[in-house]
Amino acid sequence: MTTANDKMQGATGLSTEALLERIATLKKEMNAVILAHYYTVPEVQQAADIVGDSLALARAAEENSADVIVFAGVYFMAETAKILNPGKLVLMPDDHAGCPLADSCPEAEFRAFREQHPDAIAITYINSTAAIKALSDITCTSSNAAHIVEQIPPEQKIIFGPDRNLGTWLSKKLDRDMILWQGYCYVHDAYSEVYMIQAMAKYPDAELIAHPECRDEVLRHASFVGSTAALLDYTVKSPSQSFIVATEPGILYEMEKRSPGKTFIPAPKDPANPRSVCTQMKQNTLEKLYLCMVNRSPEITVDKALREAALKPIKKMLDMSA
Ligand code: 13P
Ligand code: SF4
Repeated sequence: MTTANDKMQGATGLSTEALLERIATLKKEMNAVILAHYYTVPEVQQAADIVGDSLALARAAEENSADVIVFAGVYFMAETAKILNPGKLVLMPDDHAGCPLADSCPEAEFRAFREQHPDAIAITYINSTAAIKALSDITCTSSNAAHIVEQIPPEQKIIFGPDRNLGTWLSKKLDRDMILWQGYCYVHDAYSEVYMIQAMAKYPDAELIAHPECRDEVLRHASFVGSTAALLDYTVKSPSQSFIVATEPGILYEMEKRSPGKTFIPAPKDPANPRSVCTQMKQNTLEKLYLCMVNRSPEITVDKALREAALKPIKKMLDMSA
């Protein structure tokens, strides 16, 4: 399906510089804030006021005083911003940029899953739809998941979803059984141990760092595991000069910017499954960002009843990770 902004793609004929200038002007005129995830293309990160991980962007969406939030990320991120700010106009450069992990957890099946475990609470990764959040007790991100699970009494059963790899990593780290929904991110799940070991042998001085959406067979070789923001912070603070980075390569832009002398090697792809780029994040082009501000569309909307139900676990997360 094409959106209005897809049709106009390339139609402006504007250079990157001109687009950046016009976006900056529109931002002032509209009293807008531009939030972008680290996996978006470098020029979109340049245009943004705040670039961050899911938690930082949710907090920024909650705390800003702008009238308009322009969200360059995937759909659940903009939807979360709207849930937190029902009175604001929330725009996305391309509202077809969904997160396949979030979309892999249908509402009816998750409800049935919960019914199979009536004595369990549900902690749900923020990479989920509003409908799944509405069926959950607490949301979390990869930044605060461990901190949130640690606050739940040990005798309390927990359903964790939709990402099985993050759930497995948490279970091992915290020595805590959880009932896992079997979803995964196609980008992170595509990394495999054999190619990671080869890369570590090829670059013996480089540290392997990884996002917890990777499989356990990869994570167990990593010297550090964390959210995109935590990985970035680690590369700044670590005395190491080179890193093999097992997460979506969009993050390399900010890593190179913050540590200009260091070397960042994208983790190798499995030739049989070379899907290590999040194509949905890359749908946020600079031109679509500009056009969504000009057109004040696509606008993200969330039905009131759904919004109120989904807000509760998001608020709980923000309170528990304050
Ligand atoms: P972060 O919260 O670590 O930025 O992760 C978001 C995401 O979608 C990872 O694939
Ligand atoms: Fe979703 Fe994976 Fe893309 Fe993150 S990298 S937005 S989890 S598809």
